[in-house]
Amino acid sequence: MNQAKPVIRAQRVNPFEEIKRLVASKYPIVWIESWEEDRVESTLRRVADKGFTNPIPFTIWSQTDVSNSQKNIINILHDFAHADDKGLLMIKDFNWELAPTPMLKRALRDVFHLTKANFKTLFLVSPYSNIPEDMMKDIITIDFALPDESDLDGIFQSVLKAFPKVKNILNDEQKGRLLKGALGLTLDEAKLTFQKMLVGKQELNEEALDTVFLEKARIIKRDGLLEFVPTKYNLDDIGGLENLKDWLRDRNSFFSEDAKHAGISMPKGVLMTGVSGCGKSLCTQAIAAAWGLPLYRLDINRVYGGAIGTPEEGFRRAIKQIEAVSPAILWLEEVEKSVAGYQEGDGGVTARIFSSFLTWMQEHTSPVIVAATANEINKLPPELLRKGRFDEIFFVDLPNEKERGQIFEVHLKKRNADMTRFDLVELAKATNAYNGAEIEQAVISGLILAFKDNKRGLKQEDIFKAIGRSVPLATTMAEQIKEIKRWADTRAVKASRS
Ligand SMILES: Nc1ncnc2c1ncn2[C@@H]1O[C@H](COP(=O)(O)OP(=O)(O)OP(=O)(O)O)[C@@H](O)[C@H]1O
Ligand SMILES: [Mg+2]
Repeated sequence: MNQAKPVIRAQRVNPFEEIKRLVASKYPIVWIESWEEDRVESTLRRVADKGFTNPIPFTIWSQTDVSNSQKNIINILHDFAHADDKGLLMIKDFNWELAPTPMLKRALRDVFHLTKANFKTLFLVSPYSNIPEDMMKDIITIDFALPDESDLDGIFQSVLKAFPKVKNILNDEQKGRLLKGALGLTLDEAKLTFQKMLVGKQELNEEALDTVFLEKARIIKRDGLLEFVPTKYNLDDIGGLENLKDWLRDRNSFFSEDAKHAGISMPKGVLMTGVSGCGKSLCTQAIAAAWGLPLYRLDINRVYGGAIGTPEEGFRRAIKQIEAVSPAILWLEEVEKSVAGYQEGDGGVTARIFSSFLTWMQEHTSPVIVAATANEINKLPPELLRKGRFDEIFFVDLPNEKERGQIFEVHLKKRNADMTRFDLVELAKATNAYNGAEIEQAVISGLILAFKDNKRGLKQEDIFKAIGRSVPLATTMAEQIKEIKRWADTRAVKASRS
């Protein structure tokens, strides 16, 4: 039981069309994953009423529905299976505890066999599907996408009608931005946001857009699953790692319409692994800047913490949110622990999230690019490393001598040091086995020494003093680092140019 099932993507596919197609192809049982029960209900109703030449009967069952109170779910399914007419049946909050599981399975199998030849489809609705292994053949899952721009436009128009006194002076381009800005919200959230934007106003102008952006930031923040990371760094802030930087620069043009025409697809993701403090997190931020895309970090503690339903629900919601705000970069820190971890005795939760992550990595068509970092690379499951998941796996090693000079240059310039006072080659020679973070620290400690000495400017000897007082981590971790290198040798591409 509880095995994650590959999800048939409905992202960017109009849910009405998708459901109509499933009914027309006589799918017996469809599990719809969604938080938006009302929207699912109204979409199903629309398919039943208007999807076909003649309307199809549509029934809803929920545990608390008084009119159905005499009938338990088993009777309802039995009646549905044996009715000879067409029909759609929606079960709200479906879960395996609605009836004794073996009986429920039997009832669903009956539905499957008795309805597969006619236009009857059973819809199970809940935020997250979990289908026992032995039922997988009988049930398909669809992922009910969040409202798209045209849905949002519909809501916008209807809210606007409720405020007849507000003069709308948005031009088409501004309205386009308004709707884009609301992507990622559920229908109810969008409605409230638009109302907030209009209430007490005389005129709807560009300023109102801020309400939408703020509101969305607030909602994404309230869930706390994704954290927007403002990108302070770009490729020039990285010393060395030329191979990685070239790779990123090459792909910059892959996002254009021209590339699309030439059949070049967008990258799916990049995995950076290696020695701590050598710039993996830094590179993630630089990727976002280099490609001009917003960066969102997944807060895996929130996902597992159960703040947003079960961990599976939280994970799926995060995925939906990032898809809705795409094109965007999804940052997964310590992927070996977060989505690819395995924990004994957690009831299979991490395993299910991993499986659902892999499926999504493989199948998603939305422009979401994963930037993942890993420290304990020997813990990475082989499935994650297989071709087709990440476009490239980079190994970020301790900087070589030339790179150390470049890292010094980056950090000295950043602090407006007088570059004529420094010999980068000597500094690099003196910092064998230092990582980037330690080189930065040497510059900072040097600055403090100089400041304490009558607030004078930084000199090379200050840095040498700071170097003399510190021991690089790598010397105490020599064995581990050797191990990492051995692993990476055959599995990853070196981020540095040798
Ligand atoms: N190649 C580099 N060029 C410039 N600065 C660097 C470089 N590598 C590291 N640094 C400095 O060290 C800081 C820490 O690096 P970062 O957080 O990117 O390391 P990391 O590889 O993600 O480490 P961890 O594995 O511990 O998360 C950076 O913010 C940056 O200031
Ligand atoms: Mg890091």
